[in-house]
Amino acid sequence: MKALVWDGKEATVRNDVEVRDLRGNEVRVRIAAAGLCHSDVSVLNGTIMFPPPVVLGHEGAGEVVAVGDAVTNVKVGDHVALSTLGNCGTCAACDSGKPTFCRQSLGKLGRPFSIADQKVFQFANLGVFCEETVVKATQAVPIPKDLPLTSAALIGCGVLTGVGAVFNRAKVTHGESVVVIGVGGIGLNVIQGAALSDAEPIIAIDTNPAKEAVARAFGATHFICPGPDDDIVEAVKELRPNGVNHVFECVGSTSLIRAATDMLDWGGNLIMLGVPKMGSEASFVVNTMYNDKTIMGCRYGSSRPQYDVPLMVQLYRAGRLKLDELVSATYPIEDFGKALDELHEGKLARGVLTFD
Ligand SMILES: NC(=O)c1ccc[n+]([C@@H]2O[C@H](COP(=O)([O-])OP(=O)(O)OC[C@H]3O[C@@H](n4cnc5c(N)ncnc54)[C@H](O)[C@@H]3O)[C@@H](O)[C@H]2O)c1
Ligand SMILES: [Zn+2]
Ligand SMILES: [Zn+2]
Repeated sequence: MKALVWDGKEATVRNDVEVRDLRGNEVRVRIAAAGLCHSDVSVLNGTIMFPPPVVLGHEGAGEVVAVGDAVTNVKVGDHVALSTLGNCGTCAACDSGKPTFCRQSLGKLGRPFSIADQKVFQFANLGVFCEETVVKATQAVPIPKDLPLTSAALIGCGVLTGVGAVFNRAKVTHGESVVVIGVGGIGLNVIQGAALSDAEPIIAIDTNPAKEAVARAFGATHFICPGPDDDIVEAVKELRPNGVNHVFECVGSTSLIRAATDMLDWGGNLIMLGVPKMGSEASFVVNTMYNDKTIMGCRYGSSRPQYDVPLMVQLYRAGRLKLDELVSATYPIEDFGKALDELHEGKLARGVLTFD
């Protein structure tokens, strides 16, 4: 079958990739659409270290084509949005509603794919840049069939990460002030999560001026477009002299993480969503944090996919959550290079790859 494989040097679409047979608690999914998240790009440029060869892609949706004997939550023919967690569903973390803490959910490098005799990894427990993948049943969340799969694909990373960070991690509430640094697929979902939580103001910051319109469409009340010599802390303090309640860093830059700490009001939270190069260290002035300020890591919006995906679908169907508007362009998988270029050119909220 067709799949996009990163071999450590090049990402190429190949036609000779196989996926192994199902195990009892697994589901085989025919991928219809898959979003291009910056974390995929980070594998290509070495920011995220992942062993090659690997089928990339970790934000997708499609149709269930086979289920293992032990699977009860989905059946053949169901449409599903996919979660990257790969959590076990039975440990104390899973059972207490914290599947992102499940030790099975990170670092288990599965190799369900193969090219001839060589086994091939699946990125982030998924590998959705391919026609068919095999995932654990806990990763497949049924969705209604009338939901466009190109939109549903984005729930599995961008939406759960961004909206989840607001709802589950920062727990933003009415009238609280929010800064969002980086208006990509993640930042836009933070903005719309903040708008759903009645935050005010919602200040978006991006170095690309073209992001202003989309930031405002998703609920930003202010947009700051800093030039190379501009101080974003000063720009935020002009709007909020005491700083803000929540700053979400959605780029993955240690200097932005530092700047974010300087934007916090007393009692404020910095939520780190961006992923800098492995091993990076960030600094902050310790006594500026004295007034009950908090630095939070946040993986995957601290989501519980079997709960949060249906919640996102419910909000979408009520006209309150934007999914279709996140899809800037669709590309057949063969045009992966074009999608990558357009992401780098800053043209995309999300680019979505599709499969015949
Ligand atoms: N924590 C998680 O679970 C999680 C999940 C998914 C993605 N991520 C990470 O989130 C980050 C964002 O991903 P994305 O898919 O939204 O990326 P993206 O490429 O779609 O968007 C990044 C945005 O940041 C802007 N930007 C770049 N440099 C900037 C600067 N100095 N100041 C302000 N804006 C700047 C770009 O113009 C762009 O709009 C990545 O680091 C990705 O790896 C984390
Ligand atoms: Zn992602
Ligand atoms: Zn578990």
